[in-house]
Amino acid sequence: MSPHADEVLDAIQGRRSIRAYEDRYLDDETVLSIIHAGIHAPTTLGLQPWRFVVVRDHDLMKRISDYCKPILLLNLKDMTTPEAVEQKILLSSKDFNIFYGAAVLVLVLGKEKSHFSTYDCTLCAGNMMLAAHALGVGSCWIGSIGPVADNPGLMKELKVPEGWMIVAPIAFGYPKEIPEKPPRREPEIAWVR
Ligand SMILES: Cc1cc2nc3c(=O)[nH]c(=O)nc-3n(C[C@H](O)[C@H](O)[C@H](O)COP(=O)(O)O)c2cc1C
Repeated sequence: MSPHADEVLDAIQGRRSIRAYEDRYLDDETVLSIIHAGIHAPTTLGLQPWRFVVVRDHDLMKRISDYCKPILLLNLKDMTTPEAVEQKILLSSKDFNIFYGAAVLVLVLGKEKSHFSTYDCTLCAGNMMLAAHALGVGSCWIGSIGPVADNPGLMKELKVPEGWMIVAPIAFGYPKEIPEKPPRREPEIAWVR
């Protein structure tokens, strides 16, 4: 067993999606450390079909949030589960920002033509969120940015080149609040022996 097994397992279990951030600068060096942890993820045929965009422009992030909110709200229109209702209330609030006031948004871009880039970039993003946690930095995958893919103007501002797609949009910053761990269901496991 690795001498670091306990620390690694604690980090895996202790990482939370952070939805409230301190108004505190996250320096480039830390962002680079997180990205460098990401690129150690396994990739199909070792292709590493990714590139990264680091967004520090908070005005752009606010514009993206304001653009996405009504679209997300429309998508949830017919949903009535408690989670959907809670989400609709949030999205209807003028002050709600889908990035939760995070210092930085990092986009893991995947090559559209690379068949398995979604898997590869998602594994990369998983590493990045764990590395951030180990460095005392909070993170949250922001799937709510999804509608941006259909807006060429915003994709250009986000420096997403032709032939690339946003696979993992992840907010990073110093946590203001660390939420309770959402419960995990016992995994259903079939053993084939
Ligand atoms: C693909 C994906 C998209 C997500 N999108 C959002 C999002 O838009 N906003 C958000 O607050 N959390 C988002 N999350 C975070 C999940 O809600 C979170 O991981 C889940 O509730 C479990 O909480 P934990 O990460 O603290 O264990 C996303 C997670 C994944 C994997």
